[in-house]
Amino acid sequence: MAQVIDGKSVAADVVQKVKAATADLAAKNKGKPGLAVVIVGEDPASQVYVASKSRTAKECGFHSVQHTLPAATTQADLLKLIADLNADTAIHGILVQLPLPSQIDAGTVIQAIAPEKDVDGFHFINVGKLGTGELDTAFVPCTPAGSMLLIERVRGKDLSGLSAVVVGRSNIVGKPMANLLLAANCTVTVAHSRTKDLPALARTADILVAAVGRPEMVKGDWVKPGATVVDVGINRIPAPEKGEGKTRLVGDVAYAEAEKAAGAITPVPGGVGPMTIAMLMANTVASAYLAAGLKRPVF
Ligand code: GUN
Repeated sequence: MAQVIDGKSVAADVVQKVKAATADLAAKNKGKPGLAVVIVGEDPASQVYVASKSRTAKECGFHSVQHTLPAATTQADLLKLIADLNADTAIHGILVQLPLPSQIDAGTVIQAIAPEKDVDGFHFINVGKLGTGELDTAFVPCTPAGSMLLIERVRGKDLSGLSAVVVGRSNIVGKPMANLLLAANCTVTVAHSRTKDLPALARTADILVAAVGRPEMVKGDWVKPGATVVDVGINRIPAPEKGEGKTRLVGDVAYAEAEKAAGAITPVPGGVGPMTIAMLMANTVASAYLAAGLKRPVF
């Protein structure tokens, strides 16, 4: 039986540290961290995520603002809002919830955010800093940053000698995850839909990260005995056993099977999911420290 990695509890620890760092900043008369969350349109899942981000920001003692824009918002109007937020000294973090409606080019919008307020870590400057190992000043995307903290809890900070396989090559998770593992001295392979014999490759991994968005794709016999398995997927699938029209959440890993081989594994829900919001708060408080000319707190 694998150790179940409790993301809720690690996320709660991070939020506690963010609260303490926020209180310290106020005690130094340096004001409050400010987070602006922008949502365009009415995608129900995005609304739930955004509400949760704004709520946690308030709980941390932040100045928290939410801009809810209609689905028909033009790119020019969104860029104007971003320019205003870039210039607003009370705001240290800007997050534009993705996906955006089709009339808006997400790439253009992301690159318009000031890199020092890009708490999502999606701007080229932050991607480049992570890629070149400038981790002291980079903002790292929240989901891989949170996944790394969970891995550290099991394996420590130095992963020398371990092999990692990241399944998925997205800009939001797969690629930054690979860079973080590399920075921690892992030997890293990034696998994807065109990889040959994925099960055999996965079985070589001491650390196996699944970030593909395919329900229960990673089977139990893909897991090397004793491996640390991090499941980034959040997939809603039909659950007729719970009643007609009911659904349930599953990850990208077939948990019941994988848990038998793994040394440690993140559950879904309650694994990586809660870490994403916690790391957004960590990035925002770090941004406020940097803006105040202070060394940023480490989580
Ligand atoms: N949509 C889904 N995940 C994310 C995320 O991490 N950041 C933003 N901005 N939008 C998202």
